[in-house]
This record gives sequence, structure tokens and C-alpha cells, in this order.
Amino acid sequence: MSQIEIRDVAIEYKKPKSEESFVAIQGVSLSIEKGSFVTIVGSSGCGKSTLLLALAGLIECSRGSIRVEGKDVTGPGKDRAMVFQDASLLPWRSVHGNVRFALELQRWKRDDIDERAARFVRMVGLGNFADYHPHQLSGGMRQRVNIARALAVDPQVLLMDEPFGALDAQTREVMGDELLRIWERDKKTAVFVTHSIDEAIFLGDRVVVMGRNPGHIRDVVEIDLPRPRTAAMLDSPSFIEYRRKLRDYISADMQALHMVEDIA
Ligand SMILES: Nc1ncnc2c1ncn2[C@@H]1O[C@H](COP(=O)(O)OP(=O)(O)O)[C@@H](O)[C@H]1O
Ligand SMILES: [Mg+2]
Repeated sequence: MSQIEIRDVAIEYKKPKSEESFVAIQGVSLSIEKGSFVTIVGSSGCGKSTLLLALAGLIECSRGSIRVEGKDVTGPGKDRAMVFQDASLLPWRSVHGNVRFALELQRWKRDDIDERAARFVRMVGLGNFADYHPHQLSGGMRQRVNIARALAVDPQVLLMDEPFGALDAQTREVMGDELLRIWERDKKTAVFVTHSIDEAIFLGDRVVVMGRNPGHIRDVVEIDLPRPRTAAMLDSPSFIEYRRKLRDYISADMQALHMVEDIA
């Protein structure tokens, strides 16, 4: 059995000011092995965030089931941590204080908290900035704090919804490298949503391609590139082939969308 079992999941949202509901995703099934890195791509609105929120236990499935370690997901849990696109740090707390806070919430032992927070601050390369406050940090540094906070509580599964989406291309690459380095050491299961096809290939063991109307899984592409991944691989023939395949899926989806809009 895989660590995460998503079985025939559908999620419906209530339409605002109406009795009708809107099917955001349907018939989604996916098994995720412990310690693997799964990335999810798909055009905007195809339900990537919806699926991740359901994995986090922040929204309920309308149909189907999600199990982690054989247990139904019925709400948020310590076994899963979520990183959103915008780091929502506490402005009045330092870098160290923000990571501490996550541990305090989970009632870690007082004696361990300081040391552990410091360790994870160092791990994301912010050792020299532990006493800085969020407004004194760049976007990339804030997102590092966000990741440190998620990792510090020692989740089994790390859920990331476009965590580098607000960063410039260069910072994004550095963060991707760093995330892989941490992941290779810690071997957490990672589920990572991105709109960057290159990022999805570079990070993932598998890339899940989602399509829309309603959101569903179109394909799961195994990425057969050795680890550690390096920048040189971005130009390798197999990387280029993965990129072409994934681009084709997404542009076909966009064309279908335009046709629907033309008819409507
Ligand atoms: N809280 C909500 N209420 C109603 N509709 C929603 C809600 N959240 C998302 N949706 C709709 O569900 C679909 C999927 O959204 P989302 O999961 O955010 O897509 P993605 O992350 O792939 O861009 C979209 O059409 C969106 O408008
Ligand atoms: Mg989204």
C-alpha cells in the first residue's frame, strides 16, 4: 500500500449566492509512495489547489476518499504540513520566533524548541538572519522561513502550493535546488504544485498532469532522470522530451478552453 491513496475523489463547491454547486475535480485517483516527490501541473483553474487542500484536510471530498498511512483524512493533522504561495509569517516575530511558533503550537517540549527552530533556520540558509523580522527579508527569504516552519514540525508529508510562485526566476532556481537538497536528506513525501513545467520536471519523480472541466488527472509522467538533479540536465535530450510532452498537454487544454469560450 502507498503512503497516500487518493481514490476516485470529486470535490464540489457551492456557487456563491446560489443553490447550485460547481464540480472542481472529479474521478481523481492517485497513489503516492512514501518519500517520493510528486509534482502537479495543469492550466489555471483545473483544481490543483483544490486537490492539495483536500490532502491537507482543509476541504472535504464530496465523493471518494483520501487516505494517509491507511487512515482517512478528516481534517488537518500533524502528519501533513502545507506551504502556500505567500508566506504568512507573524510580523512581530523574528525568523527564529516564527519557526518556534509552529513548534509551540504543536506543543513540542520547551527544551527542544529553541534548538530545533535554530536548526531548521540554518537548514534553509538563514542562520545569519535568525533575529531579523519578516519586513527585513526578501520574498525568497520569507519563503525559506515558511518552508523551515513546515519542516520543523517533522511532517510525514509536505504539501506545497506554488511555493515559489511569487519569486523571481533566479531565486526560484536556488530555492528548488535547496528544497531538493533538504528533501534528499529528510526523505519526506513531497506533493508540489507549480505552473512551471521545467520546475515540475526538475523536482519530480513523477509529474501529474491535470486537465479541466471538471478537473481530472490526464496523465502521470515518470521522470527518469538521475538524482541529484543538476542544472545541466535542463538541456539534456530526455528533459527536452519531457518538456515537449507536458507542454503539448497544457496547450491542448488551453485551446479547448478557448473553444468553450468562443461557443459561450
Ligand atoms: N472556495 C471556492 N468556491 C467556489 N469555487 C471555487 C473555490 N475554490 C476554487 N473554486 C473553483 O474551482 C476550480 C479549481 O480551482 P483551483 O483548485 O484553485 O484551481 P488551480 O489551483 O488549478 O488554479 C476553479 O474553477 C475555481 O474557480
Ligand atoms: Mg492554485
